[in-house]
Amino acid sequence: MKNTVLTFKKAKENGEKLSMVTAYDYAAAKLVDTAGINSILVGDSLGNVCLGYKDTLSVTMEDMIHHSAAVARGAENSLIVTDMPFMSYQSSVYDAVVNAGRLIKEGHANAVKIEGGVDIKEHIAAIVKASIPVVGHIGLTPQSINTFGGFKIQGKNIETAQKVIDDAKAVEEAGAFAVVLECVPEKLAKLVTETLSIPTIGIGAGRFCDGQVLVFHDLLGIYEDMRPKFVKRFAEIGKTAVSALQDYDRELKNGSFPTEEHIYAIDDEIINVLKK
Ligand code: KIV
Repeated sequence: MKNTVLTFKKAKENGEKLSMVTAYDYAAAKLVDTAGINSILVGDSLGNVCLGYKDTLSVTMEDMIHHSAAVARGAENSLIVTDMPFMSYQSSVYDAVVNAGRLIKEGHANAVKIEGGVDIKEHIAAIVKASIPVVGHIGLTPQSINTFGGFKIQGKNIETAQKVIDDAKAVEEAGAFAVVLECVPEKLAKLVTETLSIPTIGIGAGRFCDGQVLVFHDLLGIYEDMRPKFVKRFAEIGKTAVSALQDYDRELKNGSFPTEEHIYAIDDEIINVLKK
């Protein structure tokens, strides 16, 4: 069954956990969807894991649309949430609505995710008014790393913890149907989760959020450049892949690949004619 915003609402009401995993292409989307994950996030983390940038700031609307549309072709039941990239909404409410609309029309997303709280309340409300479901994203918002001075845990003192709470309330009041809480202390995430009537989806926000999100490449052990404390690697696909590539390299060089089972045959008579 297709996951929708109603799935998120019911999960919060019934105290059921929600799963979200990123994906950036057709094949990965098929795997995540087949695994029964509630939601696929086409995250702007594609800038890191697919495009090799050191942060998400260079990711464009065209990148997001391209990857989102590929994911949409591979996912049947997971709810597709696509990130609004840096500078696709900060500039104005108008830009926010137009670009959210492009992610739905051209990227075939079911919903968009947008970083920020109080500062972009109006933007979220306008997108929701345009009938586009919104997931908020507060705490450590990677598009603001230059303001934070790096990838730092947010909400560790009264002032910043209050900001996380204020942002959470703003996002809910603006009409978002869920909110991602990134890198905040567990007890603060628990308080936010108990305060809001929309589900919280945690990443580095502890055990008491209504759901969790992880990056596909982190969860499967494919990406080595960064290894945050909150990541659990449920497999070591990267190591398996390197070993398989080494086997391929060795076998083709020592002549044990390809074998007869991998070839296409042709009648010798035809070859003989060609040789004349
Ligand atoms: O882009 C992304 O993958 C994200 C998650 C880290 C929540 O925003």
